[in-house]
Amino acid sequence: MPGLTTAEAPFIERARREGELYIEQPYHLYTPENHAAWQSLYHRMLPRWERYANRHFRAGLDALCLSRDRVPRLEDVNRFLRPRTAFTAKGVSGYVPAFEFFDCLRNRQFPTTVTIRRGDHLDYLPEPDIFHDVAGHVPMHTEKNFAEALVRFGACAHTAVEVAAGIRDPEERVHRLTSIIRAMARFFWFTIEFGLMTSADGLKAYGSGLLSSYGEIEHAIESPDVQRYPMQLEWAINQSFEIDHYQPLLFTVDSFDRLFDLVGCLETWMKNGRLNHVAPGEPAVNESDMRSFLDAAK
Ligand SMILES: [Fe+2]
Repeated sequence: MPGLTTAEAPFIERARREGELYIEQPYHLYTPENHAAWQSLYHRMLPRWERYANRHFRAGLDALCLSRDRVPRLEDVNRFLRPRTAFTAKGVSGYVPAFEFFDCLRNRQFPTTVTIRRGDHLDYLPEPDIFHDVAGHVPMHTEKNFAEALVRFGACAHTAVEVAAGIRDPEERVHRLTSIIRAMARFFWFTIEFGLMTSADGLKAYGSGLLSSYGEIEHAIESPDVQRYPMQLEWAINQSFEIDHYQPLLFTVDSFDRLFDLVGCLETWMKNGRLNHVAPGEPAVNESDMRSFLDAAK
């Protein structure tokens, strides 16, 4: 029974074939193996979270009352999440094009994968799963200042659309949008996915890519091979990254107020044209990402 295993779920394949991006979580389809995978992932992360996760994340875990032993129901998660910041986790069948993804954040909805990785492949996988999305991202959404930064970031996608709508030449519009989307993706990567926070009790992770990775959360904080610098916007938006190995370069912030201000700065730079020509390189801006922005600009 494949159940809702990453890349093996017939329910998800059908939804994608039929163009259903936003889906109800078909909870009855999770198999005992799916629940066992969640349990293994969660239990091995617990001591790492205690040691390396920022305190807001740990408070968020408690606030959400996430099950340790079974894949959580999104409606249960949302019951605890919504009263705190009005965020909700919203089931999706796969990749959400960039504009729609950012627009969901603006509307306090977090597109959430419902499948879970195989129990015999607990470590790295390139695509998100429910452990990454719900155990890695969602606890952060209980924190008010973090949530506000995320909403403000989502709103930047509308600013990008306004900028694009003001460019007459179609080729130039695509060129500038490519650069702006790349800058936004890099910002998201170096903060929401892989951000570190300096605090009175030392360096802690707040990025979800770290919070959902048993190996990398320790590496990010302990390894002498990682470069760690205070977040500099001009650096992060011009910095390529690769997704298939531990990150060699990470940025720190000292508060989510600071993160909120950085998003404001990103938006100002976008309006001023400072994101129009960021350094080429990863991540690539795929066709569906570009199309989502162009369609919104119509
Ligand atoms: Fe993520």
